[in-house]
Amino acid sequence: MSLYGPVFTALYDPLLAWGERAGMRELRRSVLAAATGDVLELGAGTGLNVDAYPPGVASLTLTEPEPSMARRLEGLAARPRVVQAGAEALPFDDDAFDTVVSTLVLCTVDDPDRALREVRRVLRPGGTLLLIEHVRSSRPRLAALQDRLHRPWRAVGYGCNCNRDTPTTLERAGFDTSALRAAQWRRMPSIVRPLIAGAAGPAGSGAGVAA
Ligand SMILES: C[S@@+](CC[C@H](N)C(=O)[O-])C[C@H]1O[C@@H](n2cnc3c(N)ncnc32)[C@H](O)[C@@H]1O
Repeated sequence: MSLYGPVFTALYDPLLAWGERAGMRELRRSVLAAATGDVLELGAGTGLNVDAYPPGVASLTLTEPEPSMARRLEGLAARPRVVQAGAEALPFDDDAFDTVVSTLVLCTVDDPDRALREVRRVLRPGGTLLLIEHVRSSRPRLAALQDRLHRPWRAVGYGCNCNRDTPTTLERAGFDTSALRAAQWRRMPSIVRPLIAGAAGPAGSGAGVAA
């Protein structure tokens, strides 16, 4: 939470609009098509995923730590269940959800290792993490640019880190990343590319299916 929070909330949808129209909207739909059962979304922001869930999900719980974002979510026509919480301390029982969703959030959480431990705790056996995240590039020149611009980007992007090696963090937390695919976030700055997208189940669960 910060004084910048309400400004970021007001600017968020306009800033993302080009990217949403240029393919991100479709990517959200294709990844979230795999959501089943009781679904928990981390850092739901302004609710850009809410219309992208398949009609069959049993329940949808949106979490969001930023108060102005949480208020925005509470005002959505779909009237989702909104819980103000960060991903590092989820106020839910163990094994409470079939699907956890994280889109453009692991770049921003303060402690991704802790957040992913929480995801594993609240996921039922056989459950799946669905994600779309921008990650550190494997191209040395772009990675160097991401490192150079990391601080100013973080300042304007409400704590977003453009150079995080999220696949390694997922693997360290015991998620199978083998079915994640690379995607581009068109019409957005090159430092927030590439994206990784799809399903990552706890390793050995067989839940890491391509989305
Ligand atoms: C780039 S926005 C993504 C919003 C939304 N998930 C989307 O796909 O458009 C990052 C979101 O993460 C939230 N956030 C920041 N710190 C967080 C934390 N520790 N745990 C969970 N969410 C966090 C921010 O408030 C913001 O809503």
